[in-house]
Amino acid sequence: MYYSEEIIEEVRIENDIVDVVSEYIQLKKKGSSYFGLCPFHNESTPSFSVSPDKQMYYCFGCGAGGNVLSFLMQMENYDFVEAVKYLAARAHVMLPEPEYSQEAKKHFLLKEQLFSIHKEAAKYFYYNLYSERGTAALEYLEKRKTNLEVQKTFGLGYSNITAYDLYKYLRHKGYEDEVLMQSGLINTSKKSQGYMDRFWNRLMFPIFDVHGRIIGFGGRTIGEGEPKYLNSPETTLFHKGKNLYGLHLARVSRKQQILMVEGYMDVISLYQAGFHNVVATLGTACTSDQGRLLRKYASEVVIIYDSDEAGINASLRAIPILVSAGLTVRVLQISEGKDPDEYIKQKGRDAFEQALQQSKSHINFQVDVLAKKFDLHNTEQKVTFTTEVAKILAKLSSAIEQDAYMKQIAKDTSLSENAIQIEIGKMMQREVKMPKPPSKPVAYVKNYSTSKGFGHIQKNMGQRGIIEAQKNLIYLLATNPVVYEKVGAVLSPDDFLDDFFQRAATLIFAYNEKRQTIHPAEVVNSFVELEEQKLIAQIFNGQPEYKSGQALEKAVNDQVKLIKRHRIDIKARTSTDIEELQKLIEEKRRLENLYILFTDG
Ligand code: UTP
Ligand code: MN
Repeated sequence: MYYSEEIIEEVRIENDIVDVVSEYIQLKKKGSSYFGLCPFHNESTPSFSVSPDKQMYYCFGCGAGGNVLSFLMQMENYDFVEAVKYLAARAHVMLPEPEYSQEAKKHFLLKEQLFSIHKEAAKYFYYNLYSERGTAALEYLEKRKTNLEVQKTFGLGYSNITAYDLYKYLRHKGYEDEVLMQSGLINTSKKSQGYMDRFWNRLMFPIFDVHGRIIGFGGRTIGEGEPKYLNSPETTLFHKGKNLYGLHLARVSRKQQILMVEGYMDVISLYQAGFHNVVATLGTACTSDQGRLLRKYASEVVIIYDSDEAGINASLRAIPILVSAGLTVRVLQISEGKDPDEYIKQKGRDAFEQALQQSKSHINFQVDVLAKKFDLHNTEQKVTFTTEVAKILAKLSSAIEQDAYMKQIAKDTSLSENAIQIEIGKMMQREVKMPKPPSKPVAYVKNYSTSKGFGHIQKNMGQRGIIEAQKNLIYLLATNPVVYEKVGAVLSPDDFLDDFFQRAATLIFAYNEKRQTIHPAEVVNSFVELEEQKLIAQIFNGQPEYKSGQALEKAVNDQVKLIKRHRIDIKARTSTDIEELQKLIEEKRRLENLYILFTDG
């Protein structure tokens, strides 16, 4: 932990969650809670609740939840410490100098150094571009019609033609070889047996993170040459699949719609034309991390990839990823020019704006792409086409949407509405028969499947049962003194089956021992990972109500046994000692006879 528990708790208490959330979304009071549209998934009726008493938020739609710190982590992409700092400043709480562990201190220092190396490098490239040595690069930029203002906004630069220029400059600034190597900007050279720059004689595009810090570079050849673009490798700072070029600018445009293009120049040209809400995936496949990142700042994405086959296929692959991030997805196919950059230069801003109005919903786009592959005068092909269309429509969760698309597609393609309907019906039936996959996998569920030998005790459903049992028990232990009194005697935190649950249980047991009131929002503070904070919120929000004392007693007994049984099974499987095995068998036998009575006599 970086800050003391007391100071974190003070920061939390000084920032009322209703006030903080209200700075982002509109809340309406209903009973003892406030409700609004969830900022973390797409919805039209409010299922996002904020409780002033608990000082927690919870979304009944997507399960997002936590305290005021979690909210900022999720909303602003802050890590725990950044959220503490932000809220401390907001409430004028003075933070002491943070205490770091050795390990954390080293990591923190490395990151700081890497950030400053990137900043220095960008300044150096920028200086080059406007000096004599940058003449050709600047001419090239002018040929591509980028104006000075936009060059500056994107911090464009030039890496000099000698291959160790930047290295010398950064050494002169005092950075050590080891750190320089970790920046990805410097390589070792076999030829000269020394260090050399990764980028030379290239037009340089700094890559920013959402907060506007430089984390990497792309470098373009001036004119022809291979590779056309060279990018920073993956480093401590730069993870290509978790970042989007231009997002630091697009997010402050505060538009609900974001345009998603392929390349650096597409972003820059659209920005120059006044479309500030544009980001690029930089020529690689769109990832679910990028989807979630976008969802933080917008509700709708328009994919505007290159007009070639590769662009169409990349769009098709991006659609399900973005849809499942909760975004409304549309696609604009560029009709003239190979990409948005060329289009806007040929046709101008207004034409692009009009084209944007003509963008298609992702469903219509998929159907259009499909239609081109079939000859609809051929009966067999028409049948296959109908099935394929039905497959696309069957994925829609809203029947109204499904119906509307079906009518429209039938009109546009000469397919029979009835036939599509029947195909969808067949598919839905198949869907119902298939066993349901476990709901949203969360981080620690993944750990289960990798943790040694857990998988083959029980299938997924069994694991879910254990997870639900543990959630419910922790909730009951935290909120029902009778349950703690009875269960605390037979169950210990070590009995829980996952590091997260063990830590949560340890905490709840400690509160109970000290007879302290348990505030869910305070419990959240003990977990720095957002995924874990969300689980705490789920524990305190989504638990079943028991109709009677007997029902409660039975449920608790079942849960305790389920957990203990698994504990024993795990031990038994890893044990090679006969004596220990016999003990475990005995323990299991006793467990079957265990019954915890809640009422004495
Ligand atoms: P494109 O080849 O479409 O480049 O690649 P572009 O953006 O149109 O480039 P210009 O207009 O010729 O300057 C799209 C994106 O794919 C990545 C880059 O991020 C590029 O912007 N790419 C492309 C590479 O990383 N390396 C390459 O060699 C080519
Ligand atoms: Mn392109």
